[in-house]
Formats: sequence, structure tokens, C-alpha cells
Amino acid sequence: MIDKIKELIGEVELFKTNNTDEVEKFRIKFLGKKGEVANFFTQFKNIPNDKKKEFGQLVNQLKNSSLKKVNELLENLKKNSVDTNKLDLSLPGDSYKLGSRHPISIIRNEIIEIFTRLGFTISEGPEIEDDWHVFSALNFPEEHPARDMQDTFFIEKNPDILLRTHTSSVQVRVMDKQQAPIRTISPGRVFRNEAISARAHCIFHQVEGLYIDENVSFADLKQTLFYFAKELFGKDTKLRFRPSFFPFTEPSAEVDISCTLCGGKGCNVCKYTGWLEILGCGMVDPNVLESNNIDNEKYTGFAFGMGIERIAMLKYGIKDLRLFFENDIRFLEQF
Ligand code: DAH
Repeated sequence: MIDKIKELIGEVELFKTNNTDEVEKFRIKFLGKKGEVANFFTQFKNIPNDKKKEFGQLVNQLKNSSLKKVNELLENLKKNSVDTNKLDLSLPGDSYKLGSRHPISIIRNEIIEIFTRLGFTISEGPEIEDDWHVFSALNFPEEHPARDMQDTFFIEKNPDILLRTHTSSVQVRVMDKQQAPIRTISPGRVFRNEAISARAHCIFHQVEGLYIDENVSFADLKQTLFYFAKELFGKDTKLRFRPSFFPFTEPSAEVDISCTLCGGKGCNVCKYTGWLEILGCGMVDPNVLESNNIDNEKYTGFAFGMGIERIAMLKYGIKDLRLFFENDIRFLEQF
């Protein structure tokens, strides 16, 4: 019995917890009505007289050390729990560092938003393409310089598998699947075998537009692009259409907006012309409709294509194209 008490005294000494329930279990085990201490006291009468003194002292020691332990543990728990009186709820919280969207994504989303408002759907196509979708179906003659090794990254020759050089290939993909009327835009990444500089990169992004229906005219094209440019660059933006050439449109035009910096007066951004080129466009060439099995007697259409980097550079006043691809956080966090 004496040994049992000594053992329990050791157990009490070693006991540790941070849990209120555990403290209560401990208290009941040692100090409860039917606990160890009470139990030993009831046995006191059965202890031989010569042992009574030692027994009594040890039981008292067990009782006192248990009490002390319970008080200590409760005191500790109190200290570690949050004291709401000392909480300053007016202190500012830790701020979360939110990421920002890449400027190319911002402009792409703005462009998509404007055209979806006009009822355009969004189409996508593969970045790895064949000659048909990038060139032949778009009325590029065999010897056209855009097919030259200098511009195109070829993956395989004969039959030609290549990285698309423009998103006009998605026009062909849409016409493969869908009959007129068609009203769609295709944002995407394109590739050209060009030396990287402040004004050119081998990877960039375009948005292509295609509208085919009965009685679509150049006036519809102009009005669509007027609306687009004013929404993107502001109400006072003026547009200028310059005759141009693309194999897949006839007639074709390049479109300039009045300079976003000087408003048309002339500055070094617009090279003192007052105008900035933003896209190419035109009426879909009847040959393209025919190659893609669309009745070119019944339907006409317009198409346009723009570079997202170029528009982002104009909108944000960025002078070096390479910044878009370096992912320098000091650049990106400004948007
Ligand atoms: N695909 C042309 C390019 O990459 C851009 C373009 C011009 C697209 C005129 C068109 C268009 O749809 O009609 O330079």
C-alpha cells in the first residue's frame, strides 16, 4: 500500500496537460469523492498502528501534491487562453498580397467583353496547325512570302505542320464546323520566326474577328470597328481606314486610331502623324468562302485581326514588347 501511494505521488508529479477536460479527469481520479485520496483515507483504520504515521503522512502528501498540481494546471490554462479584455479589435489586420492580372489578359478580356456585347461568340483553335488552315484555305498563293521559312516555324515538311502565324486559321476551323451566319472572335497565341526586339517577338497574341451573313457590307465592318475603338480607347477616338492588301480579304484595309497620347496633334508616340495603326481588316474574299464551302453568292462577310500586345502598348504607354514576356513582378504589379 505504501509503495502504491509512493508510485501515485510520482505519477502526480509527472502529470502534464494543456487540456481542461484532462485536468478535470485528473482531479476526479485523485481528489474526487471516490478518488485515490478518499480511498486511502477509508483504509486508514485497517493499517497496523506502527505504520499509521507513515501512511497518514504519505496520503496527505498525495492529497496536497494533487491539489497543487490541479491549481497549477488551471492557472496555466488561464494564462494561455486569449484574454478578450486585452484584445485590440481596432488594430489593422494583416493585409493579403493579391496578385494582379497580366496586362495581356486584361486587354484580351476587355476586347472579348466589347465584342460579346455585339453578339460575337468566342472560338478557339490549335496552335500547331497545318498549311491548309493557316495559308491555303485563306487564299495565300503558293509562293506567298508569308509561307517562307523566315516567318513560319515549321515542325514538319510535306505535309507541312507548323506553328500558326496568325489566328486567321481559326476562321477556317469555324467555317469547317459551322454554316453561315457566323459571328465570332478568336483570341489566341501566334508564332513567327522573328528576332526578338523592343518591337517584335517570336510569340505574341492576336484577336481575329469573322462576321458572315446575308448582306454584310463594308459599312457594317466600319461601324463595328468604330464601336469597338471608342469602347476600348475612349469616346473621342477617331478612326482612319487605309487601303491595304491581305490574301483573304478583298477589299482590305488597315485601321488607325487617333493617337492615344496627343489626340491627333502629333507627338513622338505617333511619329508626328497623329495616327496609330491598330488592326487589319476587310471583306472576306469570295475565294475563301468558296474554299470553305460557304455559298459566296448568298453570303458576304468581314474579318479583322489585331495584335493584343500592340493594343496593350498603346493603352498603357509601354515602349518595349519584351516586358510582357519577362514576368518581372515589378512590371506586372502595376496593372
Ligand atoms: N492575319 C493578319 C496578320 O496576322 C491580320 C488580319 C488582317 C486578319 C486582315 C484579318 C484581316 O482577318 O481581315 O497580320
